Amino acid sequence: MGESGAVVERGRLGASMRRDAWWLDLIPIVIVLGGFSVYATWRAFEGKCYEWGPYLSPFYSPLIKPGWWPLSPALLILWVPLGFRATCYYYRKAYYRAFFLDPPACAVGESRPHKYRGETAFPFILQNLHRYFLYAALILLIILSYDAIRAFWFDGRFGIGVGTLVLVANIGLLSLYTFSCHSLRHILGGKVDCFSCVSFGVSRHQAWRGFSFLNDHHMLFAWLSLFSVGLADLYIRLVASGWIQDLRLL
Ligand code: FES
Repeated sequence: MGESGAVVERGRLGASMRRDAWWLDLIPIVIVLGGFSVYATWRAFEGKCYEWGPYLSPFYSPLIKPGWWPLSPALLILWVPLGFRATCYYYRKAYYRAFFLDPPACAVGESRPHKYRGETAFPFILQNLHRYFLYAALILLIILSYDAIRAFWFDGRFGIGVGTLVLVANIGLLSLYTFSCHSLRHILGGKVDCFSCVSFGVSRHQAWRGFSFLNDHHMLFAWLSLFSVGLADLYIRLVASGWIQDLRLL
């Protein structure tokens, strides 16, 4: 039985006794995740139009441009958000289903005989690096927060432009995505069986409950932050290339 209660028919891709349109769930994932991957790859290699005034694209932050590096500076730092998202528990489920069809959905047949080894062998054992990508992503979050604060200062004077709001919204959504991470919740309290038996048990329990609340919405934050980071980069690219003008609100 699958988790939906339907019986799995094995041996044929897509075979299922499910009566619902299970395949509909895959379409937006293929379109959005596939589209974002193509756009992000193009922007990472483009290597230009990533800053304007106080705005810096999140794809290029922190901006590191050593003299010996001939390619786009984004390629030096994008491994952090890429590794963090690629090993994310939610995205793993999404792309295993939508791109690998392994399986395409609960209680739906796969193309090959089922030989589940979990993530215990190469290359999928690398998914276990998620916790370490989380540590790097937390540092990146601090840097992106600094970028959002810097976006309020135009030639040394306080101001607010549309780009400022875009970068602030982006860091807000990225924070929700990062703080709702399953690994972070586990680090804070998931492995504790008895909160009253450990040091700082009350505070840890409160923190765990707060992060558990965020964790319930992790999928939503994963998608919203994906949109926000892509749109923030697109906005800065359009302003930096002169396609649009940044509207100053203050
Ligand atoms: S589980 Fe998704 S970011 Fe950690």
